[in-house]
Amino acid sequence: MAEVRAGLQDVVVATSQICSIDGQRGKLSYWGYDIHDLAAHSTFEEVVYLLWHGRLPKRAELDELRQQLTENRPVSPEIVELLKRLPPPQHPMETLRTAVSALSLYDPEAEDMSEEANRHKALRLTGQMGMIVAAFGRIREGKEAVAPDPKLNHAANFLYMLQGKAPHAEDARWFDVALILHADHSYNASTFVARVTASTLSDVHSAVTSAIGALKGPLHGGANEQVMKMLLEIQTVDRAEAYLHNLLAQKKKVMGFGHRVYHTEDPRATVLRRMSEELGRRNGNPKWFEISRKIEDLMIREKKINANVDFYSASAYYVLGIPVDLYPLVFAASRIAGWTAHVLEQYANNKLIRPLAEYVGPSNLKYVPIEQR
Ligand code: COA
Repeated sequence: MAEVRAGLQDVVVATSQICSIDGQRGKLSYWGYDIHDLAAHSTFEEVVYLLWHGRLPKRAELDELRQQLTENRPVSPEIVELLKRLPPPQHPMETLRTAVSALSLYDPEAEDMSEEANRHKALRLTGQMGMIVAAFGRIREGKEAVAPDPKLNHAANFLYMLQGKAPHAEDARWFDVALILHADHSYNASTFVARVTASTLSDVHSAVTSAIGALKGPLHGGANEQVMKMLLEIQTVDRAEAYLHNLLAQKKKVMGFGHRVYHTEDPRATVLRRMSEELGRRNGNPKWFEISRKIEDLMIREKKINANVDFYSASAYYVLGIPVDLYPLVFAASRIAGWTAHVLEQYANNKLIRPLAEYVGPSNLKYVPIEQR
């Protein structure tokens, strides 16, 4: 019997130049640039360029990309109309998945598989995704979608379109950092799914729609929302210990902890911890950070399990005023950069992804007519 690795754990399925993770040392880099360096000095737009082109842009190249992303921001009237007409979802990821899938119906290059057309689609999708999330966030509250502000960068414009007022510069910068940290993560589940779809030579929108479906699950991009729900249930630092013990006694997973690849601290959590603390303090609402810190201490002490990317993003986004059920959508609005980079890499050197399964079901059965069963 061939060796079966459940969940493809530790299986190397391909080579990729885009993103590297050292799970033992807690290092993450995009095209060789350490995530801490990018978080400290870069912007989401620059990281998008890096992911798509494999190098940092020169000034004129970055200006051009910014301009192109800005031009692609306005959500088309057809999609706004769709957002208004769709029934209220049980979870907003359903709406995002549907809207992104619908974008292909209005994309003149949807079925054009040339590299140029695929790059255009990557650009349009990256420009659009966050704006659809912001528009949906308002429409479902009975408000009008806000038109984008071309003077604002991608991160600030998202907060502006969601909240209807320009964000504080520090909030906007931290949110930009969060987008950088979420932009790619090698062969995570949703990116792998995007590549599987692309490997059949299906189109970019189909690959991204598949990825949104995979991101939605609570073991992946849905975890940050579950973390905030937990913090809201806990409410005060003094209740954290009993709450956590109760969860662990029931053998339940604590959302925002653990990782398939990192066996030490997730480097993104290191930055997001600081984001949660600083935003909490500056906005006069440090409570969520303090509860999070307490839970983290307990998890490390009792389970030796570290926080992952989804743990501190939860309290940080809460203080930024992002509705809790939109957290996974915000994740998607950043990860679209990585998904499309991987889809382009897949097309550039494609091989159909089609693994095997070890069959363990019954065999040699004889068909029994329905009356005799
Ligand atoms: N809370 C409590 N225990 C956890 C845990 C968590 N968040 N994450 C892992 N563990 C424990 C498991 O119970 C298991 O213990 P066991 O061997 O005694 O049964 C062990 O650690 C290994 O966990 P497992 O789920 O098998 O590892 P995995 O590599 O398949 O899963 C995750 C990785 C991310 C899916 C898992 O850690 C998890 O479910 N985390 C919570 C969801 C989350 O935050 N997802 C976002 C990831 S970025």
